[in-house]
Amino acid sequence: MNKTRVGIINVTGYVGMELARYLQQHPHVELVSVTGRSAAGKRLGDVFPHLAGLDLTIQTELGDVELAFSAMPHKESAAVVAPLVERGLKVIDLSADFRLKDAGQYPAWYGFAHPQPPLLADAVYGLPELHRRQIAATSLLANPGCFPTGAILALAPLVKAGLISDDIIVDSKTGVSGAGRGLTLGSHYAEANEDTTAYALEGHRHLPEIVQELTALGGEPRVTFVPHLVPMARGILTTCYATPKETTGREGLRQLYRDFYKNEPFVRVVTAPPHTKHTWGSNLCLVYPTVDARTDRLVIISCLDNLGKGAAGQAVQNMNLMLGLLETAGLEAPAVYP
Ligand SMILES: NC(=O)c1ccc[n+]([C@@H]2O[C@H](COP(=O)([O-])OP(=O)(O)OC[C@H]3O[C@@H](n4cnc5c(N)ncnc54)[C@H](OP(=O)(O)O)[C@@H]3O)[C@@H](O)[C@H]2O)c1
Repeated sequence: MNKTRVGIINVTGYVGMELARYLQQHPHVELVSVTGRSAAGKRLGDVFPHLAGLDLTIQTELGDVELAFSAMPHKESAAVVAPLVERGLKVIDLSADFRLKDAGQYPAWYGFAHPQPPLLADAVYGLPELHRRQIAATSLLANPGCFPTGAILALAPLVKAGLISDDIIVDSKTGVSGAGRGLTLGSHYAEANEDTTAYALEGHRHLPEIVQELTALGGEPRVTFVPHLVPMARGILTTCYATPKETTGREGLRQLYRDFYKNEPFVRVVTAPPHTKHTWGSNLCLVYPTVDARTDRLVIISCLDNLGKGAAGQAVQNMNLMLGLLETAGLEAPAVYP
C-alpha cells in the first residue's frame, strides 16, 4: 500500500512538533515536508533531537503533499489554509480559524474579521465522537481546541440526553505547554513553578466553541468556564458541575457514559478520578462521572494531554478518518507513566 504524503506547516511550535512525533510512527502515511519560520534551512533532528529519526529539513514553503496540517497561530492559519483548500488538498487546521460556524464571532473572540466566511460552512468540527461521518467526508477539518475537547467529551452524554439544566460550570486546569512555545512572562519557570492561578475570567476564547457544540447537542447551555494555569508541562484536568433535572443515581450516570462511549477507542470511562499523567503522550481522554449525593449535583471529570487528544493526537485520528484508514492507526502507544 502506497503511503499518503503529508506535511506540517509550522513544525517549530509544540503542536507541530508533537504531530511530527505521531506521524513518525504512523504505518500508512509519510511525513515528507515540514515548514517553520525561525528554523528554516535546519535539519529537523538538529532543532528537535527526539525527532532525529525523521530525515527532513525545515523549509519555508510546503512541498508536494496530499494532506497538510496547519499548526499556525490563529489568523495566520486561515491565510495559509484557504489557498491549500482551493488547490484541492485535504487540510487539517489545528488553530481556531475554522472551528466557529458564525463568522461574526471572530472579531469579538479572536480580534480579526474572518477572511473566508464561506469556508466556515465547509469546515467540519473534528471531534470524532460527535461528527465521525462528516469528518470522513470533508477536505477541511477544524481540529478542536484543547479545553473544548475535554469539556465537550465530559458533558456530551448528559446534554444529548437532556438530563441537566442549562447552567453548567466548567473548571479546567492546564499545563504550561497549552500556551505554546513562545516566551511570555507567565510561562517563565520562576513565575509558573509552584504557582496556580485562574485566568480569562472575562471570557476565554474557547468558550464559544464549547457553547457551539453543546448547543448543537440540545438545549441552550449557559456555561461558566474558568481555566487555571498549573505548574506542569502537559495535561488538562477539567471538572464540570451540572444540576440534574431529576435525581440521578451514581450507577445510572456511569451506565449512561459507558453506553455513550462504548465504541470509542480513545474515550475511557474510568472508575476512579483520573490523573493528567494517565494520558501523557497519548490520544486518550479519560472521563469520570459521579454524583455529589449531599447536593444531588453531578460532577464530571475529564482529563487529556493538551498536545495529544487536545491537539496532535486528535488531528491524527481525524486524518485517519479522512483518509479511510483504521481510526487508531499510529495512535496505539500507551501513555507515558509516571
Ligand atoms: N499548545 C496547545 O496545547 C494547543 C492545543 C490545541 C491547539 N493549539 C493551536 O495550535 C496552533 C499552534 O499552537 P502551539 O502551541 O504549537 O504554538 P507555539 O508553540 O507558540 O508555536 C507557534 C508557531 O507559530 C510560529 N509563528 C508565530 N507567529 C507566526 C506568524 N505570524 N507567522 C508564521 N509563523 C508564526 C512560530 O514559529 P517560528 O518562531 O519558527 O516562526 C511557532 O512555531 C495554535 O493555533 C494554537 O492555538 C495549541
